[in-house]
Amino acid sequence: MIPFRALFLCSLLFVVVYSDAPPDGDKTPDVEVDKINVTDTDTDKGIDVEKADEYWQKRAAEAQKAAQKAFNPDPDSVADNFNAAVGHNNSRRSLRRYRGPCLATNPIDRCWRCDPNWDKNRKKLAECPLGFGHQTIGGKRGPIYVVTDASDENLVDPKPGTLRHAVVQNGPRWIIFGRSMIIRLSQELIISSNKTIDARGFNVHIAFGAGLTLQFVHNIIIHGLHIHDIISKSGGMIRDAFDHYGFRTQSDGDGISIFGGSHIWIDHVSMYNCQDGLIDAIMGSTAITISNSHFTHHNEVMLFGASDSYKEDSIMQITLAFNHFGRGLVQRMPRCRFGFFHVVNNDYTHWLMYAIGGSQHPTIVSQGNRFIAPPNPSAKQITKREYADESEWKNWSWRSEGDLMINGAYFVPAGDQTKGKKSDFSRYDMIKFKPGAYVKRLTRFAGTLECQVGKPC
Ligand SMILES: *[C@@H]1O[C@H](CO)[C@@H](O)[C@H](O)[C@H]1NC(C)=O
Ligand SMILES: *[C@@H]1O[C@H](CO)[C@@H](O)[C@H](O)[C@H]1NC(C)=O
Ligand SMILES: *[C@@H]1O[C@H](CO)[C@@H](O)[C@H](O)[C@H]1NC(C)=O
Ligand SMILES: *[C@@H]1O[C@H](CO)[C@@H](O)[C@H](O)[C@H]1NC(C)=O
Repeated sequence: MIPFRALFLCSLLFVVVYSDAPPDGDKTPDVEVDKINVTDTDTDKGIDVEKADEYWQKRAAEAQKAAQKAFNPDPDSVADNFNAAVGHNNSRRSLRRYRGPCLATNPIDRCWRCDPNWDKNRKKLAECPLGFGHQTIGGKRGPIYVVTDASDENLVDPKPGTLRHAVVQNGPRWIIFGRSMIIRLSQELIISSNKTIDARGFNVHIAFGAGLTLQFVHNIIIHGLHIHDIISKSGGMIRDAFDHYGFRTQSDGDGISIFGGSHIWIDHVSMYNCQDGLIDAIMGSTAITISNSHFTHHNEVMLFGASDSYKEDSIMQITLAFNHFGRGLVQRMPRCRFGFFHVVNNDYTHWLMYAIGGSQHPTIVSQGNRFIAPPNPSAKQITKREYADESEWKNWSWRSEGDLMINGAYFVPAGDQTKGKKSDFSRYDMIKFKPGAYVKRLTRFAGTLECQVGKPC
């Protein structure tokens, strides 16, 4: 069950607390794959809105309205439009970090990267998302908020200067950081609408504590964070908005949990080793793009739709573009239900069980990805249908186009093979793919970037 009981309590008192965590370098973790608990259980999260209090019922209703508006009733339309020329063909990933002149290798990055004044033009980023989350502007219309304090002690009246204080501000905020830091969240961080968290310029880790929660909110950009080693926390009283706080039950230990959210863009994050999923999007979340990110060392990577009975997830429209699914991953990249999922130009270099799966007739359009199968002969299939006989799933529209299959990888297509081909989607909704052979270059800078003030990033 999802943590979800909110008492109707308000307070605006600020209590000052002192605590800090040491800054950290950009170390690559070395988690053993066998430490990951390889199971294929299926969480059936749900929320009983009847039982929720009046405040959250209202938020849920507003979020549903926003999601309905964000949903494109004809997502098949976008596919063939958008594009920009992208680099050359190169089929191996280099382990060494790129040290050459600034290079932006895909259309999202080309929109903002390589500007030596990126620091002065931070809000340019808000013009750059593509895919179903392309209308996300985050905190573009609000002031900059600088996080300087890594502590997270007072959850009801967060200390000014902390990330928790930043994310519950009233109205839009463009949240940046004053230095590198590790933020160990005492409980889930409940982000309110119209926010950008922009970690460019520093190494900012959300780690060893609770994760990020986007519940019944809209318009959020998350950029440049390292999110890892997230664990379940017991819950308690937590502020979730400028003028509201309430009681939360235990959090699941997801890196990023999107619950009834719309217009969300997650870009250039590096995520690994969380207790539950890395990114979950459930309860009618839609208009989401996850791009340029790097995922490693995790079992159940992404869950889009958590319940076979929650038909409201039919409005889900999610784009996965230019991500690298790397070392130590097992399954669910992603695992989908009901909605429309565009998986475009991602690099799948590792999986142990399968890459893309689902149940409840999700539509999956896989275009221009590179899939490198693991050595295990019984894990070469990219796709996995769950809880359905072939007679049923053969009617689900799963389509592969321009994918590069390596080491025996194979995608089992079925159903309507025209999805995503019609031109009624906007060119921004469906990113036009490049052939899979270009993926290594397109995803070359997946994960967090090392941006320095005054230098092209
Ligand atoms: C793995 O997951 C199963 C099912 O959730 C649980 O019973 C078991 O204790 C877990 N094992 C480890 C090593 O975490
Ligand atoms: C890319 O390179 C690979 C391996 O050299 C080759 O098989 C493939 O045809 C090339 N693709 C393109 C689009 O040039
Ligand atoms: C977010 O911003 C939009 C556009 O300015 C506004 O209509 C909406 O009410 C804002 N949402 C919240 C929760 O403040
Ligand atoms: C297959 O899908 C089509 C179109 O959505 C629908 O009309 C048809 O009834 C489905 N057939 C089965 C056997 O589910």
